Amino acid sequence: MENKMIFLNHKMNLNAKEIKDYLNSFPYHNNVVICPSTIYIPYFLRKDSKIGIQNIAADNSGSFTGEVSAMQAKSLGVSYAIIGHSERRANYLETDDIVNQKVLKALENHINVVLCIGEEKRKAGFEKIIKNQIKKALINVSNFEHIYIAYEPVWAIGTGLTPTNEQIKKTVSLIKETVKKEFEFVNIKVLYGGSVNDNNIEALNQIDNLDGYLIGGASLDIEKVKKIIKVVL
Ligand code: PGA
Repeated sequence: MENKMIFLNHKMNLNAKEIKDYLNSFPYHNNVVICPSTIYIPYFLRKDSKIGIQNIAADNSGSFTGEVSAMQAKSLGVSYAIIGHSERRANYLETDDIVNQKVLKALENHINVVLCIGEEKRKAGFEKIIKNQIKKALINVSNFEHIYIAYEPVWAIGTGLTPTNEQIKKTVSLIKETVKKEFEFVNIKVLYGGSVNDNNIEALNQIDNLDGYLIGGASLDIEKVKKIIKVVL
């Protein structure tokens, strides 16, 4: 598929020297969105860069020590926000309701959303969890063309494990069908995330209903990023 997108999620990694080295050989590309630690975002600002923030506040401004808002991110040149990552849901107690507020705040500020969903364990009935996450996160949303849903099974994040291509394809279809049924939006863009790397990307890229990837660990290594870009774009 043309126009696949690759999102690079650095999480809380790299020190000041390491990010400068990374920056020096970073392969800017129209279909690659870099999501560094928030403190490093200004380093990536260029005419041809696409930048994402790993989290945003549910408010635009005010007394929220330590938070960064969608309004602020947009004013700097950030165009995407990762929202509802499983690490935020688990470690910072982000509920579906908070995720929904953040999604609406991002869209209100013309920031594209990467909404993360995914089951903790792949067991019978996991589809219901996926459907519920989608329904709750997208309440009152109208501009679906600015949304990517990242299917990230929690058990696949940072573990080296991935679902089979068949399992991913089926879940991506389920996500697209759910958005169609619940919100009457056809063909929502869906990413896969969870242990994507330079070794498995060729196989994963055979899945024909994916619109891109959200990559954590492997995104820290420029050589791996280049290999992945070569396969996907
Ligand atoms: P991973 O992380 O590629 O290291 O599994 C993906 C993510 O958490 O977005």
